[in-house]
Amino acid sequence: MYRYLIKPILFALNIEQAHHLAVILLRIIGFIPGGRWILSKCYSVHHPSLEREVFGVHFQNPIGLAAGFDHNGDVVNELGSLGFGFVEMGIVTPQPQNGNPCPRLFRLPNDEAIINRLGFANRGLKRALQNLRRPHSGTIVGCNIGKNISTPAEDAPKDYLKVYRNLYQYADYFAVNLCCDNACTETISHRPDYIMRILEPLFDFRRGQNQYRPILLKISPDLNNEEVDRIIDILLSTPLDGIVATTGSYRRDGLQTTDETLDKIGAGRLSGKPLTRRSIEIVRRIHERSGGNYPIIGVGGMMTVDDVREMLKAGADLVQIYSGLIYHGPHFIREVCTGLVEDAQRAAILQAERERKELIRRTTEEVAREARAIDLAQDIADKAAEVAEKTKYIREAARKRRK
Ligand SMILES: Cc1cc2nc3c(=O)[nH]c(=O)nc-3n(C[C@H](O)[C@H](O)[C@H](O)COP(=O)(O)O)c2cc1C
Repeated sequence: MYRYLIKPILFALNIEQAHHLAVILLRIIGFIPGGRWILSKCYSVHHPSLEREVFGVHFQNPIGLAAGFDHNGDVVNELGSLGFGFVEMGIVTPQPQNGNPCPRLFRLPNDEAIINRLGFANRGLKRALQNLRRPHSGTIVGCNIGKNISTPAEDAPKDYLKVYRNLYQYADYFAVNLCCDNACTETISHRPDYIMRILEPLFDFRRGQNQYRPILLKISPDLNNEEVDRIIDILLSTPLDGIVATTGSYRRDGLQTTDETLDKIGAGRLSGKPLTRRSIEIVRRIHERSGGNYPIIGVGGMMTVDDVREMLKAGADLVQIYSGLIYHGPHFIREVCTGLVEDAQRAAILQAERERKELIRRTTEEVAREARAIDLAQDIADKAAEVAEKTKYIREAARKRRK
């Protein structure tokens, strides 16, 4: 239905209008009694093999919605009913902000990609708080937090702390979004001293609470390996709980879209298929260098079930999707979950087969060992009979000699 009916309608609109329409439709479904139940019946896949326990939180499945779709947490429950194992709302900044002027969102259909320079438009902390106070017990909600564009870099820690503190008891985890805005370069926002100035007040606040809320860092795919390693050092040496890798890229290499179109679009972060390779590479690097001991959420270019498999194999504990949802629709989540269940079932059959073969091998060895023992016992019995026979003969001979 999505491919033949809803997608042509949404793709006939500009991407921002399509996004608003999708959110309105979800809200309407949420208001209709039984609406979410129907969504869940159509799209959700439940299977024990999909369940995960990551940073102390129980997930029904490892596939989440990446930040940027539901900035204000307006439809987290409805998105949960679409089959996502978790929803990362946000970015949430202390004050509402309008972001950049339109147009600011672009589809690149030849590359299955999106360019966005929304400028982190969101309705601010107050609206997020109103939404998160509503019950959302069936849906795991992460909150992507950031600073207002008008806040100077030296005051950034105050913005992050304000959002974290106010939403602390309502979200299940927090992702600190380092990619501040299009005016802020990655070189500054990903510097360890800048990051630590943001993280330390959050750790201090958390120490005084009786509930624990995991803090993750969301990083850019444009970092080089040395910069990624510096982030891994922070992960290893602080109470940081994990990393979300990655957000959109400023790079444009290897695209099918013409340079002319790209020039017309202008600045912005690129999401979707062109990100797949780099986001998986970064996740693999973090996983290997941290000894596989820290949670990683893999995101960026997850456009097929195989991409998700690769991301999990590279070391991601959870995976997020954004562009995949835009290009393939909600059925894609079901397809991914079904694919993972089939993998788990195949792995279980292989494991059962391995165990059966091992049992046969051990039983055969035992039977052979017993057979050898029986042969040995028979040999001993024969030898004993021979000795007895000889003894009898010797005694007989001795008796005759005495006579
Ligand atoms: C329109 C749009 C808005 C986004 N807004 C945010 C955001 O507010 N915070 C954030 O951390 N990432 C944001 N992202 C990045 C996504 O969460 C995700 O990291 C990125 O799109 C790569 O995933 P994908 O290739 O599956 O789209 C946004 C992406 C898009 C396309």
